[in-house]
Amino acid sequence: MPFPKADGVDGRADIHFHLLPGVDDGPRTLDESLDLAVHAALDRTRTIVATPHVRSDYVTDVSQLTERVREVRARLARAGLRITVLVGAELGHDMVGRLSQAELDIVAQGPAGARWLLVETPFDGLADDFTAATAELRGRGFSCVLAHPERAVRLLDDGGVAVRRELSEGGLLQVNGSSLAGWHGEAARQVGFALVERFPAVVASDAHGATRPPALSIARELTRMRGLGSLTGDLVEVGPRALLCRGLPLPVSAAA
Ligand SMILES: [Fe+2]
Repeated sequence: MPFPKADGVDGRADIHFHLLPGVDDGPRTLDESLDLAVHAALDRTRTIVATPHVRSDYVTDVSQLTERVREVRARLARAGLRITVLVGAELGHDMVGRLSQAELDIVAQGPAGARWLLVETPFDGLADDFTAATAELRGRGFSCVLAHPERAVRLLDDGGVAVRRELSEGGLLQVNGSSLAGWHGEAARQVGFALVERFPAVVASDAHGATRPPALSIARELTRMRGLGSLTGDLVEVGPRALLCRGLPLPVSAAA
């Protein structure tokens, strides 16, 4: 997929990253958040979108996230870590109808007119309730980036009908670098590569902590080794930046 040049975000951006402490299954303390951010910086990431699980079993009050990100930014700054942290979410589709327009806007990315949300792909696939939720989001002015679709391992059993439908509506896939590395098992690894080879996609870490660390450099190397050529840069470097700067749908006429 050709991506436009992305300005305004400096360096590598990771658009799926559980950085906030004590809100989900990511880091438990501010110091663990700092450790994770240091790992990301060593992996050459310069912008992190903090994407806690916003769903009924974790964060439901989105209004707290801006302040939580402010606390993390202050901690990183005190440590001398130069990394930008943005407010985002990995949005459970069951929450869509419970969030106001203003709440969705807190966790959305991209410029006005091209806003998008990272929506968690259920492990059991894209059923009708998921499709209804993404349709509602589009109706409310947001495109959808599907988080880790490869972890729904039966996703392509029918040729990927549900994925193709989301893409035809202007969506995009976000495959985990950790899946490409095999950290979520062989099935997720194979589906992950099938998705990035066949469909418009970007790669993010979905980092959670020491056992699920940042994974962009390893993903870039693995995609390069698979002969994905120029897609390697697009998937890991250019695409995520373009999403943040240009939003969705991306203008496809511009060269990467
Ligand atoms: Fe996640």
